Amino acid sequence: MDQLKRQAAAKALEQVRDGMKLGLGTGSTAKHFVDLLGEKVAAGLRVVGVPTSEATRAQAEACGIPLTTLDDIDRLDITIDGADEMDPALNLIKGGGGALLREKIVAAASDRMIVIADDSKWVDVLGRFPLPIEVIPFGLTATRRAISDAFAQSGVSGQMVVRKGKDGHVFVTDGGHWIIDAHLGRIADAPRLAGLLSLIPGVVEHGLFIGLGSTAILAGAQGIRVVERR
Ligand code: 5RP
Repeated sequence: MDQLKRQAAAKALEQVRDGMKLGLGTGSTAKHFVDLLGEKVAAGLRVVGVPTSEATRAQAEACGIPLTTLDDIDRLDITIDGADEMDPALNLIKGGGGALLREKIVAAASDRMIVIADDSKWVDVLGRFPLPIEVIPFGLTATRRAISDAFAQSGVSGQMVVRKGKDGHVFVTDGGHWIIDAHLGRIADAPRLAGLLSLIPGVVEHGLFIGLGSTAILAGAQGIRVVERR
C-alpha cells in the first residue's frame, strides 16, 4: 500500500515546474510527495510551498523546501494532497489526519488540486469513511443537534463520535478545535450536505471537498490511473 502511495506521489511530481507555488498536503500519501519534492529541491528545483499542517511544515523544513504563507503570495499553482475517499465527480472526504481546515483553505487558494491516493480510496458514493466535522468545543451539544438536523435534511443518519487521540484525550486540531467523526455509511447528496453543514455556526469546517479536486492520481496493482474532473 505504501508503495502505491509513493507511486501516486511520484506521478504528481511530474506536474511540478520550476518556479511553482505549491500547497503541500497532509497524511501518509502527501508525506511521500513532500519527501520526493525535497529530493528535487536538493537537486536544484525552485519552488515554494504552503504546508497544510504543522506536521507537514516540520517535514518540509527538514527536507529543505522553501515555505511561505497565503498572506505573502497571491494564488498557488497546485495543491497536492491525499484523501480518505473520492467519488467519480472528484468530490472528496478529507480530514482523517485532522488537517481538513487548513487543507481546504489551501486547496481553495489553488488553481488546481491534484489528489493522490492508492485506488482503495475510490468509491462510487462517499460516506463509508466517517465524515470529519471540525467544531468549536463551546456549545457542542447545540452544534451536534444542528448537525443532526442537517443530516436529516439531506437524508443521512449515523453515529457522531468526538475524535480522540492515541493518548485517549480529545484530539485537538492545529487550529485548537475538536473533530466529530460522523459514521454515515452513504452520502447520496454530498453537495447538499456540505452546504447545510457550512451554515452551522459551531462548525468550523467539514471534510466534504466539493468541486475542489481537479485531478485524481490513483495507484493500484494494475498501474496508475489519472482522472480529470469533468
Ligand atoms: C488529512 C487528510 C489526508 O489527506 C487523508 O486523511 C488521507 O491520508 P492518507 O494519505 O494517510 O491515507 O485529509 O487531514
